[in-house]
Amino acid sequence: MADPARITAYPDGPFLVRGEVDLRDAADRPIPKNRRTVALCRCGLSTIKPFCDGTHKAAGFRTDD
Ligand code: FES
Repeated sequence: MADPARITAYPDGPFLVRGEVDLRDAADRPIPKNRRTVALCRCGLSTIKPFCDGTHKAAGFRTDD
């Protein structure tokens, strides 16, 4: 059985996605991923959406615990 997907909300940062997952864009096209763990932006400021590029740190993005 494939490794099931697990999504972890990183404090003040992205969603970390581990395991087998099929990422798709709004048009249902596959989004290639090069790693088994990917970070998805949830601050809305990344220049490489849907992936996190670290901009959340400079922007002071904060999440509720
Ligand atoms: S969460 Fe990292 S750039 Fe948005």
